[in-house]
Formats: sequence, structure tokens, C-alpha cells
Amino acid sequence: MQQQVNRQILLVKRPIGVPDESCFKLVTSEIPRPADGQVLLRTLFLSVDPYMRGRMNDRRSYVAPFQLNEVLTGGIVGEVVKSKSNNFVEGNFVAGNFGWQDYSIADEKEVRKVNPEIAPVSTALGVLGMPGLTAYFGLLDIGKPKQGETVVVSGAAGAVGMIVGQIAKIYGCRVVGIAGSDKKTKYLVDELRFDTAVNYKAAPHLRKALKEACPNGVDIFFDNVGGDISDAAISLINNNARIPLCGQISLYNEVQIPMGPRLQPRLLTFSALMKGFIVHNYADRFDEGICQLSDWLKEKKLKYAEHIVQGLENAPKAFIGLFAGDNLGKQIVKVS
Ligand SMILES: NC(=O)c1ccc[n+]([C@@H]2O[C@H](COP(=O)([O-])OP(=O)(O)OC[C@H]3O[C@@H](n4cnc5c(N)ncnc54)[C@H](OP(=O)(O)O)[C@@H]3O)[C@@H](O)[C@H]2O)c1
Repeated sequence: MQQQVNRQILLVKRPIGVPDESCFKLVTSEIPRPADGQVLLRTLFLSVDPYMRGRMNDRRSYVAPFQLNEVLTGGIVGEVVKSKSNNFVEGNFVAGNFGWQDYSIADEKEVRKVNPEIAPVSTALGVLGMPGLTAYFGLLDIGKPKQGETVVVSGAAGAVGMIVGQIAKIYGCRVVGIAGSDKKTKYLVDELRFDTAVNYKAAPHLRKALKEACPNGVDIFFDNVGGDISDAAISLINNNARIPLCGQISLYNEVQIPMGPRLQPRLLTFSALMKGFIVHNYADRFDEGICQLSDWLKEKKLKYAEHIVQGLENAPKAFIGLFAGDNLGKQIVKVS
């Protein structure tokens, strides 16, 4: 049923440590009207992503902080319900960056069309969206996988990690996933053809467990998590290893970043490359990435999983759940 008001979720308090629901507030406003060159979108799905935690701090980063008492924003997939643009008609599905709300106004240049014939439209937030592109460019551009190499990926059962592992398999690598439950590690091996997977929460000695899982050492470590997991993986690198530095989720809620081992001697000794990246660095190649990921989906070389929470009002809970490992695959909120 169509909402008569526009429900919106605001950030009302900056979290210290792990966010809780008191940081968020649901309010209502009027449904906005599009002007010429604009469309009105009804939000179908919205994405909650770990990087949003960084935007909740009042700190300089690669993207501006969220402002207090303003609507949170992120990736959404919406349906055009009113169009004053020549490029879109009612019923078109589109993706873009908009508010955590039922309705958004979009300039025609701010949205891209989503083709529902390729895959369900929610995938524009996951495998065929920002996380899929992150996996694609981070692994291929920085990791440069070669047949027979060992690739370790942390956060392996998440939106980025599960695509990284599968692309590495397509390139003929031996793939080892690290994830936080037996259900997740079983999924990686049974469903996604990872060679093996380690449950870091159940391994009393993570380095030992990882060493057993990587008898030939580690050629590529795709780092989604940071902290102790990274320390263990980096301690096993081979000569000329590559480390795409994608995320550090284990540190996002830390008030004081814990001191780890000094890595430079190891990187130096093993002639290793560690390179941080932001997916938007590759914006001019997004079409290439989406095209290739879509082809792999069609050819059934790539699978994806989505963890869908129902209802805009549950978006904060879905976001907070990322830090407890609630999701297997892309965490998405179904709004309408
Ligand atoms: N560089 C970029 O442009 C870019 C773009 C997208 C994402 N990222 C980063 O990539 C990483 C993965 O993002 P995603 O969207 O794919 O998220 P995700 O993996 O789908 O969800 C987060 C997962 O992280 C794991 N996790 C949470 N807290 C943890 C902790 N303290 N220690 C270890 N694991 C923890 C949980 O899985 P477990 O059950 O396995 O613990 C959770 O399910 C994040 O760090 C994110 O910031 C970077």
C-alpha cells in the first residue's frame, strides 16, 4: 500500500563505540514533488554498509560526515513513481545515493537505470553494485590473481568477500575464506566452491588454523577486516604477495585504535605490495565492472546471497547487525 507520508531516519547522536538504536530517530515529512528534470522515487531497497559507521564520526575522511538531525543517506534502489524527466518513465527501476526514507527526489543525472531482466533489482546494491565493483577492482587491479596462487579473503561471507573469493576461483586460484560462524564457512565451501574456510571465532589459534589452511603460504590477502585477522594473514605472506586493503571493520567502533605488529619489515622482506583503495577511484570503469559481473552471473560462475531485513524502521537494526556478523551476503533493507 502506498504511504501517504515520507518516513525518514535521522542520525540524532554520534555513536561512541558500537552504535545503538538511540543514535537514530524515525520522523515523518511530506512526500516531495519533482521539478523539471527530476523524478520522484519510491524506495524499494536500501543498503546499509560498514563505511557508514565512519561517516557517523565528525572526522575528515574520503567522504563528508553525516550531519546530526539530518536524514542518513546511502545506496537505494527505487521505482520512478512520478517523472518530470525525458529520460525516465513511471515504473522504471533506478539506483543511486539517496536518503533512508520512503520517497526521494532525484535529478535525472543522479540515477542509473537498473535492468530487472538481468537479475532482481536488489542486486544493484550488492553483486551488481558498489560491493561487487569493490571486489572486482580490488582483486583484479591490485591483487592481480594468477592461476594456482593462494588467495585469502577476510569478511569472506559478506557482500564484498563472497564475490572476491568467487572471482579468485574464476581465475584459477586456491581460495581460503575467513568468516565468523560455521554456518558461514560451510556456505563458502559448499555453495561458493571456496577450497576451505576458517571460522575465526572458533579457532583458538587463528594463525595456526590459517597456516594449515594455506600450506603454500599466502599470495594475495584481500583485507576486509583488519586487526588480529590481518595480522595472522600477513604473517603468512609469500614473496611478491599483494594485499588489497579494502576495509578494517574490526576497528570501526574502536575509540582508540589498538597497536598491532609493525608490518613494514615483513612487507619489505617479502617484496609485498599493500595498497589501500576506495571503489570510487574506479568510477570511470564501473560500466566494465557491471558488465563483467553480469556476464559471470548469467554464466552461473558467480552466485550471491542477500540478507534482507523488512521495513524502513528496521534499517538501524540492520546497520548495527553488520558489526555483530548478522548478515550472510549483502545486508539490505526492503522498504516497500
Ligand atoms: N574500499 C572500499 O571502497 C570499500 C567498499 C565496500 C566495502 N568496503 C569494506 O569492505 C568490508 C566488507 O564490507 P561489506 O559491505 O562486504 O560488509 P559485509 O562483509 O557484508 O558485512 C560486515 C561483516 O564484517 C564482519 N565483521 C563485523 N565486525 C567484525 C569484527 N570485529 N571482526 C571481524 N569481522 C567482523 C561480519 O562477518 P563475520 O560473521 O565474518 O564476523 C559482518 O557480517 C568492510 O570493511 C567495508 O568497510 C570497502
